[in-house]
Amino acid sequence: MPDWFVPETYYYLWNEGKLIGEFRIRHHLTEALRNGAGHIGYSIKRDERGKGYDTAGLKLTISEAKKIIPEDEIYLRVNKDNIASQKVMLNNGAYRAGEDEDHYFMRIKKY
Ligand SMILES: CC(C)(COP(=O)(O)OP(=O)(O)OC[C@H]1O[C@@H](n2cnc3c(N)ncnc32)[C@H](O)[C@@H]1OP(=O)(O)O)[C@@H](O)C(=O)NCCC(=O)NCCS
Repeated sequence: MPDWFVPETYYYLWNEGKLIGEFRIRHHLTEALRNGAGHIGYSIKRDERGKGYDTAGLKLTISEAKKIIPEDEIYLRVNKDNIASQKVMLNNGAYRAGEDEDHYFMRIKKY
């Protein structure tokens, strides 16, 4: 891989054989990820939103990320107008570490 590539693992959330959502962990930060998308990304199928799945899926993803990433905190980024995703992060113990014009930069302590 080019040296600026970061390994990324994809996880899929299922409910009784039905695909619900996707979660991704980038295994370590680069300068671009530290000031950008961070370690974790996720998305829930449109017709399954608002049922608590992302809160539950992020919880599972965080427990995997704690085993993988070398940094002391898990970095996340969210658009300021994405209230649902902000709630999911806060539900999982994230705090706001910074912001730019369009985003909040959130972090979750590993320990
Ligand atoms: C963001 C997203 C992952 C949330 O998934 P979800 O399964 O609906 O989340 P949850 O059901 O766990 O809901 C979490 C909270 O957001 C709230 N919420 C859900 N949809 C909402 C909306 N449209 N507006 C405001 N709040 C909303 C829920 O009520 C819940 O609040 P609570 O914890 O106080 O009860 C989903 O909307 C999605 O896939 N969006 C597109 C991709 C995306 O934005 N990814 C994240 C990028 S940072």
